[in-house]
Amino acid sequence: MEIVLANEMGFCFGVRRAVEMMEEATQQQGAMVSLGSVVHNPQVVAQLREQGLEVIASLDEVSERPVAITAHGVSEDVVRELGSRGVAVVDTTCPIVTRSQQWAKRLADDGFAVVIFGDPNHKEVRGVLGWAEGKAFAVPTVEALDDLPDELPSRIGVLSQTTETEGHFAEFVRALLERRMDRISELRVINTLCNATTNQQAAAQQLAHEVDLMFVIGGRESANTRHLAEVAREEGVETHQVESADEIRPEWLNGHQRVGVTAGASTPDDAVDAVVTRLRELAPA
Ligand code: F3S
Repeated sequence: MEIVLANEMGFCFGVRRAVEMMEEATQQQGAMVSLGSVVHNPQVVAQLREQGLEVIASLDEVSERPVAITAHGVSEDVVRELGSRGVAVVDTTCPIVTRSQQWAKRLADDGFAVVIFGDPNHKEVRGVLGWAEGKAFAVPTVEALDDLPDELPSRIGVLSQTTETEGHFAEFVRALLERRMDRISELRVINTLCNATTNQQAAAQQLAHEVDLMFVIGGRESANTRHLAEVAREEGVETHQVESADEIRPEWLNGHQRVGVTAGASTPDDAVDAVVTRLRELAPA
């Protein structure tokens, strides 16, 4: 059995930057807390915990220890609240997410209703919503466009969760235009997709054509990992999303000759290495 790795996969620059900033901060400032998980990957969270970074769920748990904002970012209210409490803040928001937040704010300030194509419960989307002064709506699917209020400003700005696929975002914009054409005077589409994610998705798509089985490695909560698995499945190849090597069941490999491996943007290299080692053990060449 042959194992083929995707050309682009694993830690993106935004996650790498966030992890490095947090490691440096714990070395310099001692124990600190992060508002939510640093990344959607339990192994990375565990490693940082050993270095003194404790994950907290909400602002209620903030005390005197420095607070890290994660790569997914937070709303403007949270930034203000942290400022008013006077605690030290290490802001590791990915610059690509910061750009989305700034666009949401700018569009709202200019009188646009802001429609964000993404999961309303995802941390990044909740944060971006919070920069638009209550004028933004998160819409997870084309079907959910029907839930938008009838009465919206006639000028609409559209953003996407950074990890969405190009194809799904294009389809979403088309559907929005078709459904509300009669009520829209201006539509501004801001491409807030992340290049790192888009490149990984393209590499996964290409790989899916070349193999007969795919493994996508990454945290179950990770949106970009989930999208990689979607991309592979949409190409018609059997795909398993796993968080770690020990989840792989030997029978999944039965009858397969070429196995592709890719990994989400928050998946560290050692998780990928462990999966490849396990695949080699289960089905040596
Ligand atoms: Fe940033 Fe893209 Fe990674 S938005 S955190 S570089 S997946």
